Amino acid sequence: MASFDVIVIGAGPGGYVCAIRCAQLGLKVACVEGRETLGGTCLNIGCIPSKALLNATHHLHEAEHNFAKMGLKGKSPSVDWAQMQSYKQDVVDGNTKGIEFLFKKNKVTWLKGWGSIVEPGKVKVGDEVHEAKSIVIATGSEPASLPGVKVDEQTVVTSTGALSLGKIPKSLVVIGAGVIGLEMGSVYARLGTKVTVVEYLDAITPGMDAEVAKAFQKMLVKQGFEFIMGAAVQKVDVAKNKATVTYKLRKDDSEATLDADTVLLATGRKPYTAGLGLEALGVEMLPRGMVKIDDHFQTSVKGIYAIGDAVPGPMLAHKAEDEGMAVAEVIAGKHGHVNYAVIPGVIYTSPEVASVGQTEEQLKEAGRAYKVGKFPFMGNARAKAVFMGEGFVKILADKETDRVLGCHIIGPAAGDLIHEICVAMEFGASAQDVALTCHAHPTFSEAVREAALACGDGAIHA
Ligand code: NAI
Repeated sequence: MASFDVIVIGAGPGGYVCAIRCAQLGLKVACVEGRETLGGTCLNIGCIPSKALLNATHHLHEAEHNFAKMGLKGKSPSVDWAQMQSYKQDVVDGNTKGIEFLFKKNKVTWLKGWGSIVEPGKVKVGDEVHEAKSIVIATGSEPASLPGVKVDEQTVVTSTGALSLGKIPKSLVVIGAGVIGLEMGSVYARLGTKVTVVEYLDAITPGMDAEVAKAFQKMLVKQGFEFIMGAAVQKVDVAKNKATVTYKLRKDDSEATLDADTVLLATGRKPYTAGLGLEALGVEMLPRGMVKIDDHFQTSVKGIYAIGDAVPGPMLAHKAEDEGMAVAEVIAGKHGHVNYAVIPGVIYTSPEVASVGQTEEQLKEAGRAYKVGKFPFMGNARAKAVFMGEGFVKILADKETDRVLGCHIIGPAAGDLIHEICVAMEFGASAQDVALTCHAHPTFSEAVREAALACGDGAIHA
């Protein structure tokens, strides 16, 4: 038995960041992880491997569609799927080993195995029980199931299987037009797969600013995606490695089927908290296995904290990281804090889609007086030079005070551009503050400044 100040259960972005911050704050810390490698879903089977495949297929798309225009002639590259998979694995390995190095550097003990809490202050890993003054649950999430759909990770896959298919399918049906469905759908669409997305609602990416979602869907259709909207998937049948998806249209209850080589189930994720022993401890839970916490990330049991996908809020790696740092500070007797009003969301398709703060729909519903500053990437010289003139930046600001309330970007490098507005919002900036800040020319970020100018006397290049 070993004794620690803090034991963190789970080494995903929430857990490993929490453990490192605890160590930096002078606490003796261990992190429990049962996977062979650190980094959790994000690094092993989520954010990072999907970005590798998105990168490779983006270059393929560029070679096929834009090289000739730029005077780069010759044969388009052919796809070596095995090599692409091995590149993806190298990227994952580099990152997971990086976390191992950081653990050693910061003297975080890795307790290898699956942990459970036997009583407050005691965590069992394998046959050993370890003691800790504080315990942090950072066990993340797993794909939610859908009645009538049996996942085998070969023909019917979740994001995990979709990252490592045995071969590139000729046809792919994606259930759910959320982030996972559209990112993985993009990978395969660029590899020549016929991608059909079946979505229950009438718009893609629920919660996104409606104007952006509409433009996004149009662009995806141009890239070859087919969408069946307002359709609830009823079941998936598999016979001889082929799948048949049955769905019901909400408007008239009519049923129809779709055949596909592969089906990707992407209808959301749920907290992964089973097996931790929380029920026996009397930890108060919310529906779907979610852990209830107070304003300081503490559960209903003193000394047991929870963060990341296991607790309410957006299921995003960076939200978990922020909570990991904040809870470490709380445990160390400081004032950890997360500003939930300024958490960006990014979809890594091409173009990228990014947002922070309120959508126009949310502002309308709240009855808030607002103004809109919009600027199309068509007016941005740099974007046009790289064939990325589609899309726009939309800034929402308070009508009276000009304070930035939200920003929604669809276009090149949107996932990076959004952070200028995150910082602006964190400092309570006005749209004019952004507009008066000199932006280098020629950069994509000038489009953000132009949108800010459009909140005032007008953009220059529109
Ligand atoms: P999601 O919640 O983003 O989207 C699920 C979609 O499935 C919704 O549009 C929903 O209406 C639809 N749906 C539900 N039941 C259905 C049915 N029976 N038939 C047809 N459609 C149905 O979930 P997703 O994409 O699985 O992502 C899970 C989580 O992972 C999300 O919280 C997401 O934020 C996170 N994630 C974030 C990434 C990023 O930040 N780039 C990348 C990947 C995942």
